[in-house]
Amino acid sequence: MTTVLVLNGPNLGRLGSREPDVYGAQDIDALRAILESDAGASATIDLRQTDDEGELIRWLHSAVDAASPVILNPAAFTHYSYGLRDAAALVTKAGVPLIEVHISNPHAREEFRHTSVISGIATGVIAGFGFDSYRLALRAIIGL
Ligand code: DQA
Repeated sequence: MTTVLVLNGPNLGRLGSREPDVYGAQDIDALRAILESDAGASATIDLRQTDDEGELIRWLHSAVDAASPVILNPAAFTHYSYGLRDAAALVTKAGVPLIEVHISNPHAREEFRHTSVISGIATGVIAGFGFDSYRLALRAIIGL
C-alpha cells in the first residue's frame, strides 16, 4: 500500500491553540485521524511535524528514496527556505507528487506570506480550506 507522507513545518504542532481564528480549533492528532479515515484502505498516512528545517529536508530526501508521495505544509518556511525548496524539487524531479498545502489562504494575509518559494516546483498547491486543504490534496494524490 502507498504511504503518503504528510509533512508539517514549524508551529503546526501548536494547532488547536495557535490562532484558532486562523487555523481552527482542532489539533494535529485530529488532522491525522481525519486523513487516516479518508485514506481507508487506499493509502497509509504517515503524518509528521517538526520545527526543524534540517529534519524536514531529511524527510523529503527519504520521500525521494522511498518514492512516497508528499503532502507538505511548509508553514513559515514556505516564504523563504531555499534549502527546503531544493529538497522538494528533488521529490518532484524524481516524478513523485508533492502537493503544497496551507490551512489559511496566505494570499489573503500579510504581504510576506504572498511569496512561496515552494510553489514553483510543487505538483500542485491547495490553500485556504482549513484541514480540507489536506483532504483535497490526499484525494488528488490517490487520484494520481
Ligand atoms: C500556513 C501559512 C503560513 O504563512 C504560516 O507561516 C503557517 C501556516 C498555513 O497552513 O496556513 O505557519 O502554512
